[in-house]
Amino acid sequence: MDFEGKTVVITAGANGMGRCIATRMSERGANIVVADIDVDAATTLAGQLASAVAVGCDVRSNEQIEHTRQVALDRFGSVDIVMSHAGIGIAVPVHETTDADWLRLLDLNVVGMARVVRAFVPQMLEQGSGHLILTSSSLALLGGHPISGLAGPYIASKAAVIGLAQALATALVPQGVGVTLFAPDATSTGFKPTLMGSAASPAAPSDSSSPAEKAPTYSRQTPEHAADVLMQSLDEGRFLASATPDYERLLRVQADVLLDPAALAAEY
Ligand SMILES: NC(=O)c1ccc[n+]([C@@H]2O[C@H](COP(=O)([O-])OP(=O)(O)OC[C@H]3O[C@@H](n4cnc5c(N)ncnc54)[C@H](O)[C@@H]3O)[C@@H](O)[C@H]2O)c1
Repeated sequence: MDFEGKTVVITAGANGMGRCIATRMSERGANIVVADIDVDAATTLAGQLASAVAVGCDVRSNEQIEHTRQVALDRFGSVDIVMSHAGIGIAVPVHETTDADWLRLLDLNVVGMARVVRAFVPQMLEQGSGHLILTSSSLALLGGHPISGLAGPYIASKAAVIGLAQALATALVPQGVGVTLFAPDATSTGFKPTLMGSAASPAAPSDSSSPAEKAPTYSRQTPEHAADVLMQSLDEGRFLASATPDYERLLRVQADVLLDPAALAAEY
């Protein structure tokens, strides 16, 4: 993919994988709009990149997303690539969640994506060009992970992103707008599951019997690796940017997971 002179908006771009991806794209000549609720980190990063601006942006707010779009247009004249990366995790069994937990999770992880798409796609369609990147997760792409018992709501929200990306690709690619589904694997970033439901008492985060503490730990990839996977997939024009090793074989096994959710268990 040609990044030279292109303008990229990245939500959740200030830290972790978003930060690495912003840096990679900047190194390839892109103008970067770092859109994040962490304004300090966004401002620091923008100051380190060749051509970048920081914008305070919470993807739960249509107004803040529209403000981000305006800042991008005022500063760089157009928007070519939008990465909708913001998302939160929760670690709680589904039967312990409340309606409020679900609405909070889906408001950010799913409706947040829709807000970003609504704000930027009309102009891409007018231009007849552009590219959307939506961040899901390997947990949703490949079923049967042992952590699934604690990650049901999160997996459901990220599975919605897969469906959204597939539907958008079907609708938009023929009109000149590309779509990439980014599915990071477990990655060492600041990303931590928030406790919700009945586990979300003030004492829970330090309580070693809390669901988050009980969650099994797995080896994690670096955010730099995740960024490299995404960049390579964009360069190769692939719809799916999966950071899971051997994911093509696992996706074929995944077909069996629809018949038996335990079919992938032996792979972890
Ligand atoms: N880290 C992992 O293991 C992993 C694996 C698969 C998918 N993901 C996905 O990656 C994304 C998170 O990336 P990360 O792991 O680099 O996390 P991170 O915690 O390092 O960074 C997350 C960033 O999101 C920002 N943010 C939080 N809420 C926001 C909001 N409402 N609006 C805008 N920005 C917001 C934070 O300020 C922070 O800069 C999420 O969508 C997550 O579901 C993470």
